[in-house]
Amino acid sequence: MTIPVFPETVDSLWVDGRLATMTGPTRYGTVENGALAVVGGRIAWIGSQAGLPADAASRAGSIHHLENAWVTPGLIDCHTHLVYAGSRCAEFEMRLGGATYAQIARAGGGIMRTVTAVRAADEDALYRQSARRLKAMLAEGVTAVEIKSGYGLDTRNELKMLRVMRRLDHNFPTAVMPTFLGAHALPPEYSGRPEAYIDLVIDEMIPAVAAAGLATAVDAFCERIAFSPAQTERIFGAARARGLAVKLHAEQLSDSKGALLAARFNALSADHLEYLGDDGAAAMAEAGTVAVLLPGAFYFLGETRKPPVGLLRGHKVAMALATDCNPGTSPTTSPLLMMNMACVNFGLTPAEALAGFTVNAARALGMQNRWGTLAVGKQADFAVWDVDEPAELAYRMGGNPCRMTVIGGTVACA
Ligand code: NIG
Ligand code: FE
Repeated sequence: MTIPVFPETVDSLWVDGRLATMTGPTRYGTVENGALAVVGGRIAWIGSQAGLPADAASRAGSIHHLENAWVTPGLIDCHTHLVYAGSRCAEFEMRLGGATYAQIARAGGGIMRTVTAVRAADEDALYRQSARRLKAMLAEGVTAVEIKSGYGLDTRNELKMLRVMRRLDHNFPTAVMPTFLGAHALPPEYSGRPEAYIDLVIDEMIPAVAAAGLATAVDAFCERIAFSPAQTERIFGAARARGLAVKLHAEQLSDSKGALLAARFNALSADHLEYLGDDGAAAMAEAGTVAVLLPGAFYFLGETRKPPVGLLRGHKVAMALATDCNPGTSPTTSPLLMMNMACVNFGLTPAEALAGFTVNAARALGMQNRWGTLAVGKQADFAVWDVDEPAELAYRMGGNPCRMTVIGGTVACA
């Protein structure tokens, strides 16, 4: 590591921290007795405190003592459906009684139940319900979150969801990256006419979303109970034509070869992946497509088929983790609980789990130049934790040891 030059003056100086930078050759990129300095919302200096110039304190606008707490990059939740209305508690009870997620979906419940609730909710109500969830995430160290539409399924309501995301982005310090997921499910008014719905998505929704600048990426649910690879390909083509990034819900319930398609389109990520095969993993590695694992959905649906972590490691596919925060398959706002589940159920190491919510999550959003590690030039987004070692973040089941969340060098939540 080259030692950065300490600037003449800095906005803030953070000292006495144990830094898990998530860079370099060691698992956490640890710097004991670490310090970092912020200028203009970015990390301008980071390293061992011993390397600070003697007069560093007098050159800083403010000094923050971390009292030996651990500091990680801000957590990034790269796959959520956080904007929604209502709950699906009744379906939870049905599934406990033996019904499956696919059965409930085919019977008109599942995603459609939430679509009905979202269509009925006005924009303010949708905002209020969603803001509660984002607030909980911010308190658990989340500095950036991706949110998908996909519970509107008509132009008006998809745009309504995306506007709620924009409002969350404006009103919260946490950055919101909006993704258009019009191809989440076939709305009842298009029953039996999936191609006509895809036409609507391509001819009306994607142009409207792109024109309003309301999304940076387009996602689809490629699955037997949702859309085929051929239909997904049409969506991806339209997205790329508008300059939008693509990503995919793939191989969650069957090996539909969605990951291969995603890789062919240089998707940012392919997500879920329980049924991913060797061909898909190889293609993702080649394309640099990140594997986003969603241990909450696996757990909550009582799935038994685990994503092929060994295969992903073997092919050196970067693995991210996310909450998948949604009312049907993962009603959670807790990245730390997901880290625990990823370790216990998927066999990730605690270091892989933390990388999954930091450096690799940033890659999954195409934001690796700005987010995901503690390094000079990166945005000064970090979380300060009352833990004795970073692995403890994945060890606990529940509880929130986050002392403060810092975004752009400013304390956003404490
Ligand atoms: O990521 N797989 C599809 N979409 C969501 C579930 C949405 C829902 O059931 O409301 C998921 O699991
Ligand atoms: Fe999802």
